[in-house]
Amino acid sequence: MKILVTGGAGFIGSAVIRHIIENTNDSVVNVDNLTYAGNLESLAAVSDDERYCLELVDICDRHEVDRVFETHQPDVVMHLAAESHVDRSIDGPLIFLKTNIIGTYTLLEAARYYWQNLVDGKKQSFKFHHVSTDEVYGDLDGPDELFREDTSYAPSSPYSASKASSDHLVRAWGRTYGLPTVITNCSNNYGPYHFPEKLIPLMILNALDGKPLPVYGDGQQIRDWLYVEDHARALYLVAGHGKSGETYNIGGHNEKANIDVVKIVCELLEELVPSNKQSRKSGNTAGFQGLITYVSDRPGHDVRYAIDAGKIERELGWTPQETFESGIRKTVLWYLQNKQWWSHVLDGSYSRERLGVDNLTESK
Ligand SMILES: NC(=O)c1ccc[n+]([C@@H]2O[C@H](COP(=O)([O-])OP(=O)(O)OC[C@H]3O[C@@H](n4cnc5c(N)ncnc54)[C@H](O)[C@@H]3O)[C@@H](O)[C@H]2O)c1
Repeated sequence: MKILVTGGAGFIGSAVIRHIIENTNDSVVNVDNLTYAGNLESLAAVSDDERYCLELVDICDRHEVDRVFETHQPDVVMHLAAESHVDRSIDGPLIFLKTNIIGTYTLLEAARYYWQNLVDGKKQSFKFHHVSTDEVYGDLDGPDELFREDTSYAPSSPYSASKASSDHLVRAWGRTYGLPTVITNCSNNYGPYHFPEKLIPLMILNALDGKPLPVYGDGQQIRDWLYVEDHARALYLVAGHGKSGETYNIGGHNEKANIDVVKIVCELLEELVPSNKQSRKSGNTAGFQGLITYVSDRPGHDVRYAIDAGKIERELGWTPQETFESGIRKTVLWYLQNKQWWSHVLDGSYSRERLGVDNLTESK
């Protein structure tokens, strides 16, 4: 298969591309315009492979997206490009509406035009896989409730509202135009190459630097955590074998309150960082946990998300390989062993301006 992956320089997209290049014979076209969240250093392990290529393209640019379809003739689209950080969506929603809604619309129209003109076999097997989030379902009421594929949408943030809109567009393009579409809604991911504005990497790097560990509200917001490489395997499976018109929920069976996640990260750092000197540097005798600082809650903060991932397990045979305990240990170790990756993010040298990619017409 030739797979067109959008947002492949991001956290999950890069895990998907590494998975495909390292474990299959398929080839990948990465369509990404390298926003602040796009980082080509996350693809260093695979970017020299001849089955990988990068198209520096904004998914809102119809002309360029048409050119990419025409040039590369993909068999499958895996659409991950998005603005993805809830806090940023509260500060500035417009770019979320543009990328997540207009970008998805543009891609759907380009895919529809391309798909309509395909010849029989290739037309039948073509698939547009839209990658979305469990946040479209909003808050869960009872402690035992789970998000199912037929749970009503009730998004709470500009981010989740824009993702919900994009899901509706994808479903409508499937129903109205017959475009073969499939949607996945996944819980919170964590793992290597995660941009340090998100909870787990932020806590690891702040703790290592002796800085406060900001926890929203009382820290009792519950999320279902999935190791990113488990998500990448699930996405590849759905792209290849998911049924057109269907939605699959993906989750890790790992419900944890944010404050407990932060405490686990602190405990691992106490164990793995020799002499724990960063913590003491800040005059803190309670170890890394002493850095925890409660801050005003995020407006509209949902209290609990949890996924029923039974459908993808039953129908496609996917189950997560990592428990939270094994995945979080791997994650903390990865940050301890990959300082170069995150120090380039923190000093800004990973960005497209610094890399000079704007001067390239085409790059690998
Ligand atoms: N991170 C999670 O926990 C999580 C959970 C469930 C679903 N999702 C969904 O998975 C997808 C990927 O999430 P992520 O965490 O990897 O995001 P990310 O923010 O790390 O990466 C997004 C990528 O999209 C690219 N991009 C943004 N705007 C673009 C545009 N206009 N044109 C082309 N490329 C553009 C960025 O450069 C970046 O490489 C998103 O659609 C997100 O909604 C994320």
